[in-house]
Amino acid sequence: MTIDIITIFPNFFDQFLSTSKIKHAIMDGQVVINIHDLRDYTVLKGGKIDDTPYGGGAGMLMIYPPFETLIKKLKTDETYTILLSPQGTVYNQVLATKWSKEIKHMILICGHYEGIDERILTLVDEEVSIGDYVLTGGEIAAMVITDSLTRLIPGVINEASYSEDSHQQGLLKYPQYTKPEIYNGLAVPEVLKSGHHEKIRVWRLTESLKKTLIKRPDMIDKKVLNKEEAKILANLKKEIETK
Ligand SMILES: C[S@@+](CC[C@H](N)C(=O)[O-])C[C@H]1O[C@@H](n2cnc3c(N)ncnc32)[C@H](O)[C@@H]1O
Repeated sequence: MTIDIITIFPNFFDQFLSTSKIKHAIMDGQVVINIHDLRDYTVLKGGKIDDTPYGGGAGMLMIYPPFETLIKKLKTDETYTILLSPQGTVYNQVLATKWSKEIKHMILICGHYEGIDERILTLVDEEVSIGDYVLTGGEIAAMVITDSLTRLIPGVINEASYSEDSHQQGLLKYPQYTKPEIYNGLAVPEVLKSGHHEKIRVWRLTESLKKTLIKRPDMIDKKVLNKEEAKILANLKKEIETK
């Protein structure tokens, strides 16, 4: 996958691109990430890319022309162009999974100030928000999307490493422990040391359902449960009611 990020703060991405999985995915050629400085595409003096809004009001707005010049240069038939915006579809793991498999070329547009001249929407396939709050600029949102997509690109990490992650199957992940076995009286659950694969699987599924039921009942409401999950959930609900 190739991801082109349009920003007025290219340096914002230096650390991000040179750390952990993103760095390795770039080095291994699994993802190409290009950072474009919008100021290189403005015809206004001094790299100016903002102006006052028509109709008045507070703050500055990013002008449309440099976006048009750059996006038209980058776009191919395979491009999916995303405007990062608090007004967009709220991003989640379902979208991350779908896009990591389907999209070959993505453009991520980072706004700043009061946002971008509304004509930007003529160049965009989808507006995407990373949550119902307002950021200063789209750069952090671009990193959120790039990071969550990259780790799902086949080959970047083992499928087994993410297939049971929280949100991947509509549940939160079960509790996990590592050494030491006991620390200050805090012990690892016996079942995890039993070596009994089936018992461990059922314990993990039960704990996963319990965590989700307690922390994110909204996710339980949306999850399509199989017979085993439905039975465990019914028992968990009874258990909670009788407490
Ligand atoms: C201060 S915000 C502009 C908000 C705009 N005035 C509004 O009310 O919709 C500046 C930029 O940050 C980015 N941004 C802010 N919140 C975001 C969010 N929740 N998700 C994705 N991008 C966001 C967008 O690119 C936006 O153009």
